[in-house]
Amino acid sequence: MIVCDNTQRRYALHTAHTTYQMAADADGRLLHLYYGKRTDAPRTIAPPHNDPGCWPDLLPQEYPAPGLGDNHAPFFAPEWSDGSRAAALHFAGAEVCPAQEVLPGLPSFHTGGETLRITLQDPQSLTVTLRYTVFADCDLITRSAVVENTGSAPVTLRGVPSGVVDFARKDLDLITFDGAWAAERTPFRGPVRPGVQSIGSVGGIPTHAHNPAVVLCAPDATENRGDCWGLALVYSGNFRIQTERTTAGIRVSAGIEPYGFAWPLAPGECFSTPELALVYSEQGLGGMSRCFHDAVRSHLLRGRWRDLTAPRPVLLNSWEACYFTFNEEKLLTLARAAKTAGADLFVLDDGWFRGRNSDTTSLGDWVADCAKLPEGVPGLCRKIKALGLDFGIWVEPEAISPDSDLYRAHPDWALQIPGRDTLEIRHQYTLDFSRADVREGIWQQLTALLDSCPVRYLKWDVNRSLANVWSAALPADRQGEVYHRYVLGLYELQQRLVDRYPDLLLENCAGGGARFDFGMLYYSPQIWCSDNTDALDRLMIQYGTSFFYPPCVMGAHYSTVPNHTTGRTASVEARMAAALSGTFGFELDLTQYTPEQLDELRPFVDFYHAHGALLRTGTLYRLCPPDGGAAWAIAAPDGSEAVVFASGCVLDGRSLPLPFAAGHHAYRAAMLATGLEGCTERYSGESLAVHGLPLPALRGNMPGFLCHLQQED
Ligand code: GLA
Repeated sequence: MIVCDNTQRRYALHTAHTTYQMAADADGRLLHLYYGKRTDAPRTIAPPHNDPGCWPDLLPQEYPAPGLGDNHAPFFAPEWSDGSRAAALHFAGAEVCPAQEVLPGLPSFHTGGETLRITLQDPQSLTVTLRYTVFADCDLITRSAVVENTGSAPVTLRGVPSGVVDFARKDLDLITFDGAWAAERTPFRGPVRPGVQSIGSVGGIPTHAHNPAVVLCAPDATENRGDCWGLALVYSGNFRIQTERTTAGIRVSAGIEPYGFAWPLAPGECFSTPELALVYSEQGLGGMSRCFHDAVRSHLLRGRWRDLTAPRPVLLNSWEACYFTFNEEKLLTLARAAKTAGADLFVLDDGWFRGRNSDTTSLGDWVADCAKLPEGVPGLCRKIKALGLDFGIWVEPEAISPDSDLYRAHPDWALQIPGRDTLEIRHQYTLDFSRADVREGIWQQLTALLDSCPVRYLKWDVNRSLANVWSAALPADRQGEVYHRYVLGLYELQQRLVDRYPDLLLENCAGGGARFDFGMLYYSPQIWCSDNTDALDRLMIQYGTSFFYPPCVMGAHYSTVPNHTTGRTASVEARMAAALSGTFGFELDLTQYTPEQLDELRPFVDFYHAHGALLRTGTLYRLCPPDGGAAWAIAAPDGSEAVVFASGCVLDGRSLPLPFAAGHHAYRAAMLATGLEGCTERYSGESLAVHGLPLPALRGNMPGFLCHLQQED
């Protein structure tokens, strides 16, 4: 619900459990008053803010502007035609739009409630419209800003935050999600320090280093209680999220990274920022995550795959089984084994296109290598379908190998700065997706591939960050648009793809999980989490990922041991626990398995088929954070059913209290773990909630445990 009191110039956004308040003061400044637990009581800001001599620094502002006394690190940065960069944004009006507005060309949360539009004006003819949409059911508020040049002279935007939140308190912790290839989204928590702290990317994609999402929380906030605010950008390019602690409190600003960004606005033109998603929960980190999970499932995923009760296929991906070395017979043998193990879909990963026998060549030439696939992709697809499996394929549409026919025909299609060496990463360049003609060239190839046979699943990969960012299609004074236009181009192409192929299951990927964000989830209902499929490392990667993203969107596969990335060995159950907590699939050479070994995998596939709807739609409880082991559960919202997972050193005979267990019910627990196959127990809900579910003491390399709980009465 939105309260839009234009008499008092006070504005409040209410979700089921949270409230966000703003007011315009006598000087026309839009002040941020409150964001926290639901309340109808308006907050009054104490003097001295009414004192005309008061430093603007001390004011909690809703959308601060630089150069006129607010000495925080500036983010909003319009540059006027006289070279000045100051701005003063004065309140000019507010209104409620009953239906939520869409952001043109940008992904956003949708099917929410009303949108509040607050207009701010700079005297030099710039209008900023702040948009707030309320998703009351999952305590989500989204924000964005639209900047319009309402004057007669051009202005250049050199920084435009999606949102700024001023906290009146200084004692907050900041959690960021950082890492590297094969170690994505590891949470780092520490107090917000005085001065500026920031995370971000200048690599054109978010990269493995930081996820575009942060948590601010009370120092005593835990998994289950305490004040937590989550902020996440719905954006997949260069970003910055910064905190600044001053004597007045903590300011958090989030938006497109200002480096490399300069957006000229001619008179009458507008610029829309990406969206910023906000959640507050007093139920600790777990409560905050559950709000984001509900929001993603109800308001971000789209199309046919938004229906989470519709099963997602169990797939086998050929990458770790074959890498670049295969022929059609090998693929068909692998597909037969996958079918025996219970898979539904076979995915042909990298290496299938003309001359692609290593990562040094051929990106951009999306036609089958006849040496490997004598009857092309349609021939292989037909044979896979004949085995009773659906067919999927890998592409890297944004990439171009210097050694490719595409590059030889169109060298200017690659991002490159004239006069400089173009940086190769993984032996490849990046296509200039800011250009419509380049996108069209790739679109023609993609549609030719997808129209040639019934492709059910597409893995869209990007295996490097951007460098040499300069577009041959734009003049020198517009090169500051290229990074953002690249992202808009990516979004446009994925939008075309899902529009034209509504049944296609799209999975995004970026050298593992370097582009795992709300922006990409708008187009693909699942994203590959990490190239690291080691059961121990996946505990941390999937734990960190789960702060914002629900299990049902995390690409996770069961792979071989010793693990190809870490060399470690883990039990079947531990590897299955990690994979079943995500999208579930296989990524190993099942042709090496005996029929008996393939049969051993079946109970887990059957488990997925039996409980897949619960795993996709259920509520995640992180029971024990990763530290040599972890435990977590996915429960039905009413607590009537759940799957409990545990692996590693957690399996030492301890009991784990289950917060969702209903006291007055009895539960039947069916175990799936070595030595406990077929074993069932009965527990009272109260016993599970208070004393906990007894976990077995299991030894050996990374043991694992799965248990399905069902209420009996
Ligand atoms: C990336 C992906 C992998 C695989 C390879 C193929 O690394 O993350 O899953 O598709 O590319 O080259």
